[in-house]
Amino acid sequence: MVFWKRFFTSSDAVVPSVDAPFLGELLEVNNSSGLKQQILLSVERDLDLYELEELCDSVGWARRPLRKVKKALEFSFLIVSMWEVKGTRRRLIGFARATSDHAFNATIWDVVVHPDFQSQGLGKVLMRYVIRRLRSEDISNITLFADPQVIDFYRRLGFMLDPEGIKGMFWYPN
Ligand SMILES: CC(C)(COP(=O)(O)OP(=O)(O)OC[C@H]1O[C@@H](n2cnc3c(N)ncnc32)[C@H](O)[C@@H]1OP(=O)(O)O)[C@@H](O)C(=O)NCCC(=O)NCCS
Repeated sequence: MVFWKRFFTSSDAVVPSVDAPFLGELLEVNNSSGLKQQILLSVERDLDLYELEELCDSVGWARRPLRKVKKALEFSFLIVSMWEVKGTRRRLIGFARATSDHAFNATIWDVVVHPDFQSQGLGKVLMRYVIRRLRSEDISNITLFADPQVIDFYRRLGFMLDPEGIKGMFWYPN
């Protein structure tokens, strides 16, 4: 179960100082053993690429060149990271980002929760946070590409397959 604990600003100890006045939220969550854990959701953009790579490795994603990952993050509209917080230390346990035209449309990419933290509702928390942040920017059309095994995960969050018969189409180099 997740309890919304408080909003915080850049003055909080667990958050490095950056300019944005509103960086994220700290939650108290019961893990699968019923123990309380502190989870931080953040929109800070300055992530350690190696830590992010480790997280992607943990779910078996193919490695991507770090210089391209860096560029993808730089050009993303929204970056959300999720952290386990213990005292003043924190560990990256989830991630998602979105690209956007800044007006109408956004597409969510690279949604991941570390296997040690899956099936505790944190993927849902992460996605709801991404959607909330996009809606706060008045983005109304949110899309994503779902791997077949996670379609139901996204369905539960309100995403629809082929709304009004619209199909995603792809072009790949030969
Ligand atoms: C997909 C992923 C982000 C889900 O994170 P999670 O923290 O385990 O998800 P949650 O515990 O918040 O689950 C939320 C709901 O979705 C359901 N769900 C979770 N994973 C699911 C899956 N693979 N298929 C169907 N339903 C799923 C849960 O049962 C839960 O249902 P409920 O609301 O009725 O209780 C996580 O499993 C992951 O990182 N997977 C590997 C990377 C990946 O495949 N990313 C998506 C790429 S498109």
